[in-house]
Amino acid sequence: MGEVRGGTPAAAGEADAGAVVVRVERAGHVAVLVVDNPPVNALGIAVRRALRDALLGLDGDVTVSAIGLAAAGRTFCVGADIAEFDKPAESPTLRELIATLRGLSKPTAAALHGNVLGGGLELALACRLRVADAGCRLGFPEVQLGLIPGAGGTVYLPRLIGAERALRMILSGEPVAAAEALGLGLVDKVVGDHPRAAMIEMLREAAEAGLRSAGGRKHARAATPLPDFDVLAAELLAKNKDLEAPAACVAAIRNSLTMDEDAAFAEERRIFERLRQGKESRALRHMFFAERSAGRAAAKAARPRPVESIGVIGAGTMGTGIAMAFAAAGLPVAVVERDSGALAAGLGRVDTLYAGSVSRGSLPPEAAAARRARVVGTTDYSMLASCDLVVEAAFEDMEVKRGVFARLDAVCRPGAILATNTSYLDVNEIAAATGRPEDVVGMHFFSPANVMRVVEVVRANRTDPAVLATAIAVSRRIGKVPVPVGVCHGFVGNRMLGARNAQMIDLVIEGAMLQDVDRTFREFGWPMGPFEMWDMAGLDISWRARKAQGKALAIADELCAQGRFGQKSGRGFYRYEPGSRTPLPDEDVTRLIHEEARRRGVQRRDIEATEIIERTHYPMVNEGMRTLEEAVANSASDIDVIWVLGYGFPRAKGGPMHWASDIGWDVVAERLDHWRGKTGSDLFRPATRG
Ligand code: COA
Repeated sequence: MGEVRGGTPAAAGEADAGAVVVRVERAGHVAVLVVDNPPVNALGIAVRRALRDALLGLDGDVTVSAIGLAAAGRTFCVGADIAEFDKPAESPTLRELIATLRGLSKPTAAALHGNVLGGGLELALACRLRVADAGCRLGFPEVQLGLIPGAGGTVYLPRLIGAERALRMILSGEPVAAAEALGLGLVDKVVGDHPRAAMIEMLREAAEAGLRSAGGRKHARAATPLPDFDVLAAELLAKNKDLEAPAACVAAIRNSLTMDEDAAFAEERRIFERLRQGKESRALRHMFFAERSAGRAAAKAARPRPVESIGVIGAGTMGTGIAMAFAAAGLPVAVVERDSGALAAGLGRVDTLYAGSVSRGSLPPEAAAARRARVVGTTDYSMLASCDLVVEAAFEDMEVKRGVFARLDAVCRPGAILATNTSYLDVNEIAAATGRPEDVVGMHFFSPANVMRVVEVVRANRTDPAVLATAIAVSRRIGKVPVPVGVCHGFVGNRMLGARNAQMIDLVIEGAMLQDVDRTFREFGWPMGPFEMWDMAGLDISWRARKAQGKALAIADELCAQGRFGQKSGRGFYRYEPGSRTPLPDEDVTRLIHEEARRRGVQRRDIEATEIIERTHYPMVNEGMRTLEEAVANSASDIDVIWVLGYGFPRAKGGPMHWASDIGWDVVAERLDHWRGKTGSDLFRPATRG
């Protein structure tokens, strides 16, 4: 037995100085290097150095006949250390380590378990042999971080499994299961468990047979003809045509078909470096860590209470979606409605959604049945007496919600957590309807709640830290990303949405066409334009809210008064052919806009995309700044998580705050001042100027 420590303190960024990151274990003449760099055995500099030193030492050791690679803990190496991508590369790079591994004189093998991803898979592919356990998953997720595999993956994979499969694997970023990997020739053997023992056995035989490392083994070029490759690549790229990384993956794989190995490696490296330093990858890496750090401090601040049973108030769209989200994670849910008719309608919707998932093939029938069986409907509040957490998703009205919370206070056991799914209302006021405000918290799910991954967890003034920690823990448990926020109208997301939309109608009155605004948003990277979105969601919802508050909005109010509620009535900002969701320009709406312009005395003019973006997106960022100043949001990266996961802000731009910091806050503030001068609207008063 031996061990290789994590190098000098200077290299200790990812592993504690002196921590053992690679162990050497011996099984007779076979030496096994065990990477031990929790939590996921990322290949940071300390690991790479330790591996390189150990490999060279063992290659020169006459008592060693073969060398194996394995990893401790829950997984084999999941790739490069993503945090290191912000710094200049340190030697040995993964490429250099792999060159060392391939250049050894002795046979090499890797024992694979857990996730074998990115650089971890490249390391495994550089061994002569690979054995995986049955639960192992292998893949190249780099494209999801705006990168290509950078240590030979784009060169070896096509040579090993063919260009078409390689293209599909690298472009999707999705891993394949061990059995499929075996069929593809990615691994040589799959075992039920103990891949390390199987590897040692294979290495013994390899040493006896006189096999050498992988270096001597040249892979032939993949045989796919270029025209076929290009057709497939174009087809696969069509979905991602605005992103850099997918096109770069195609280019790198194509090189491996047209160049010799060394030239293809050099090109791969060059492309990787360009992407690593580019905006897209920086934004996607930011999102990787932002999602993981959201809510961490609040989760650690107190011990969460146990949660094993859930109550949901309301069987509307939100309530049933929330119930399904908990049921998917194995938790029993009691859904309460006022009357049996509404309850039956809600449960019917649940049945329809499960049936849809089964018929689309996204959920096996048994899993759907098991989830459905966990959802029980009732009109009796006393069913909630033993629930650990109750989420209220009743009508968005303060008196209704206060009524519900007073009833919950009467029926729920002491210590139960009472959460409200309100998207705008004051959680302090709701909590005050109970005699236990410390147990009340907001859990603002996004619609559809069984699909959307983010939850704003709202801490009210008197929320117990343990209640906050529980709401965060249970959100993580059901696969959501919880973001703690403070109380204010609309919290972080909807408050910023209000600021983003505030100028939308003015823009079209001043001269932008609806389709110009929508196209500009789509070109920015949003999945849909704001007017298309409005038509899809229904104009009547915000109309009702405005009327209740005594507010008015030009054009939108008029459309609603004409019964144009959007897609559901076949007409809204656009018109729709029966059965179609394609928005078509409508002259009646154009006329309405022109009339409003005349009424206001506005001289219509051409409005450029830049102006559309600045007058919608900068106020949104500005409002985000205000939520930070007021400590409603904890961090800019939390805001980014809410917007990317909750509203479809383009992930490749890293969320609104990351996007704005790339532009520079000074520049944004200067443009806000500019638009404040032009429009006279206080919406554009830069946050940091008081
Ligand atoms: N580099 C640095 N840190 C990494 C990492 C990597 N490649 N992969 C995971 N981590 C960290 C996470 O940030 C997290 O840290 P935290 O606990 O401080 O938040 C921790 O490891 C666990 O990761 P998490 O994603 O929470 O665990 P999981 O079990 O849900 O998923 C993986 C594990 C490996 C599937 C997932 O982390 C992943 O996809 N990682 C990225 C792999 C990758 O892209 N590799 C190629 C890099 S070019």
